[in-house]
Amino acid sequence: MSALETCVPVAVIGAGTMGAGIAQLAAQAGHPVLLFDAAGGAATQGRAKTAKGLERLVERGKMDRAEANGIMKRITVAEKIADIAPAGLVVEAIVENLDIKRKVLGELEDIVAANAILASNTSSISITSIARDLQRPERFAGMHFFNPAPVMKLVEIVSGVATDASVAETLFDTGTAWGKVAVHAKSTPGFIVNRVARPFYAEALRLYEEQVADPATLDALLVEGAGFRMGPFKLMDLIGHDVNYAVTRSIFEAYYADPRYRPSLSQLELVNAGRLGRKSGRGFYDYTDGTETPSPGTQAVDAAARPFESLELTGESEIDGVIVALTDGRTARQRAKETGKPAVLVDLVAEDGARRIGFTASPDVSPAFIARFVATLDGKALAATRLPDWPGLVAMRTVCMLANEGFEAEMLGVANAQAIDDALRFGLNYPRGPIGWARAIGLPRVLGVIEAIHELTGDPRYRPSLALRFAASEVSNIPMY
Ligand code: NAI
Repeated sequence: MSALETCVPVAVIGAGTMGAGIAQLAAQAGHPVLLFDAAGGAATQGRAKTAKGLERLVERGKMDRAEANGIMKRITVAEKIADIAPAGLVVEAIVENLDIKRKVLGELEDIVAANAILASNTSSISITSIARDLQRPERFAGMHFFNPAPVMKLVEIVSGVATDASVAETLFDTGTAWGKVAVHAKSTPGFIVNRVARPFYAEALRLYEEQVADPATLDALLVEGAGFRMGPFKLMDLIGHDVNYAVTRSIFEAYYADPRYRPSLSQLELVNAGRLGRKSGRGFYDYTDGTETPSPGTQAVDAAARPFESLELTGESEIDGVIVALTDGRTARQRAKETGKPAVLVDLVAEDGARRIGFTASPDVSPAFIARFVATLDGKALAATRLPDWPGLVAMRTVCMLANEGFEAEMLGVANAQAIDDALRFGLNYPRGPIGWARAIGLPRVLGVIEAIHELTGDPRYRPSLALRFAASEVSNIPMY
């Protein structure tokens, strides 16, 4: 372990939402903390906000009063920037602006000792770029916490071109000592989380635009079916469409308009309409008092329909002359044509705890069969959502595209597979990391789903990652390309 010793003072520059949280975190770990903000009174205000937050924890019995007092005692407001001189680590959490960050870090470099580490909490600016004018850029790295910093488990340690490996290592170990799951990432647009998670929003928006289902139904398939904590539409409403759209757009532009990150016109329309989500009272959902949350599309269960004796939802079987299979990306019509038998395809669900499943059927499946199928699902405590005959359905398409992005990021050296999976689990509370999830589904199936969507849409957004192809060929006899 090369974590900073707790006697080393930590300075936090910027006492807003993130800075106040990072100050609390460092003080909680035992460091003396110096909190500075350029706006008069802002650091005192940030410190007071932290005190209030801790007080609530004490009231709810989640923290000892002595501990809360100890944390607050360790946080000192720095009246002027020069007062942070004793710091061995400086975490910058000021406004998200490259020129201002360059200037402030340049000043800080002259104030602290030669061996102090400088870090930025930026969520979207290149670490390499912020470091450009530093005299010693090798001691500078990204230390990207998530909001709220004291609660969210992840910290991305981001290395720019000049960052010394030992500096990244110290930050990694220090983040770990502060109780976080730390991951190493290379400075690239979106780092890990904000890049690899794009398909969660993008596929949902695209499915909505393709009129596959409404937001409530798509959210339900991902939450009640696949086990995500919150559906993409509810989450975008919470983040704010202005913010979420701006992040997508900046990533899209940063990757030279790669269609993988193409923003959504329907989201732009919400922004244009001022329907920014919860904060404006309306986004995809209506938050005005008394408005009911729409229910997801659900098949009625016919009490008279006799359930099948057994039904397999993760492989492929034949029941009463009908193929029932987990989607492999091809449509039910394609499957029916190929086998000469009607086909029912089911969507991906979580291994445990699923309460809903999406399915589709080729046109030659009889209503009586569907009724028995739905009754069988009901017997397994699964609500059924019938979907149009669409390649990859909903949860499978989403998870496969997340995995594709994970493999791509790994191949390009953004981070290793473990870091990518940890980043999405602990930065966004995903039920599984996308690469591990894809391995559990089976890489040939994941590759097949993406290839099928690619073939049917012709959209280069769905081109499989070379790394996914290689990984799939290692676990099967799929020829290498
Ligand atoms: P904020 O607006 O709540 O706080 C920024 C603070 O920095 C303000 O108190 C402001 O007075 C101060 N400040 C501005 N210029 C300064 C300067 N030159 N010197 C000293 N203080 C200065 O912003 P927030 O949300 O805390 O974001 C800070 C940084 O953290 C940004 O780089 C942002 O991208 C990043 N970030 C934000 C997250 C979020 O969810 N809000 C999540 C992760 C990273």
